[in-house]
Amino acid sequence: MRIGVLTGGGDCPGLNAVIRGVVRKGVDGYGHQIIGFRDGWRGVLEGSFIELDLAAIRGILPRGGTILGSSRTNPYKRDDGTERVRATFGELNLDGLIAIGGDDTLGVANRLHAEGVNVVGVPKTIDNDLGATDVTFGFDTALHVATEAIDRLHTTAESHNRILVVEVMGRNAGWIALHSGIAGGADVILIPEVPFDIDEVCRLISRRHARGRYFSIVVAAEGAMPKEGTMAIAESDLDEFGHPRLGGIGVRLEREIESRTGFETRATVLGYVQRGGTPTAFDRMLATRLGLAAIDAAHDGHWGMMTALHATQIELVPLAEAVAQNRQVPVEEYERYRVLLG
Ligand code: F6P
Repeated sequence: MRIGVLTGGGDCPGLNAVIRGVVRKGVDGYGHQIIGFRDGWRGVLEGSFIELDLAAIRGILPRGGTILGSSRTNPYKRDDGTERVRATFGELNLDGLIAIGGDDTLGVANRLHAEGVNVVGVPKTIDNDLGATDVTFGFDTALHVATEAIDRLHTTAESHNRILVVEVMGRNAGWIALHSGIAGGADVILIPEVPFDIDEVCRLISRRHARGRYFSIVVAAEGAMPKEGTMAIAESDLDEFGHPRLGGIGVRLEREIESRTGFETRATVLGYVQRGGTPTAFDRMLATRLGLAAIDAAHDGHWGMMTALHATQIELVPLAEAVAQNRQVPVEEYERYRVLLG
């Protein structure tokens, strides 16, 4: 068989471990030929690819990013998107494609599958917000980066009696904010799923002061939103999948908290640091397992399916199920930790 692989959307630690798993088992285990498309769906549309033999994947397991490159190209933004994909399949004599990505990349994969294109999906995103899988690789690495940053911010916050706001990634889901905030002992955690009340944020900080704790750590997901009409936030541009370019809530909070409480406040935006660098052992292991399962699925012709982690097992689920809905933090899960805040 000839099988293509692509990595789409925001990059994520562990992508190379998936590619390695696919190639090692595809080439050595099954005797297939694997080709890697450059820059996500752009490579498929433009027929831009490299041969992925064993030499091409040597040494990539601990490397962050993706050796294939990534982009947010959306084939359905072009009139001839599906035809171009089919043409590339024909020109390269491809039997199928393994698409490694988040809800956008897998949403395209699902649509293509419905139109008769052979695709298998592998879930990835540091945001951990994909449905039909318990966890996505990349999340654990991002969580470690964010937690370490919170630990470091604690010591400087305490030395200067400051309020430090940490803005972490998480567009629609607050998994990174919630888990790093709890693991790092934050005093306020703001997530997209629960609109925040700025008065309540300031009340928690002031209560700490009254108790003799003159510093506080506020962790805010980039997608955290104030309750309607309580605080102005900036408008942002949209990408090819219609997502706003976020970022800025940390600085907004810095100004608002300082002016309302009178306490010196500073913001830190962690940004792409959370996505870069070497994956944790957990993410390397999960990504490797997903890669091996993906090439098995392609070999067996399980098109339209996605590899997923369910408890301790890797299983196949329909792509349609994975992209039907974002996996957000349940409100009751967030509420459970409220007692630890402030
Ligand atoms: O999808 C993962 C993510 O890291 C989001 O948390 C963030 O909003 C987005 O990617 C930013 O990606 P980019 O700026 O690369 O489009």
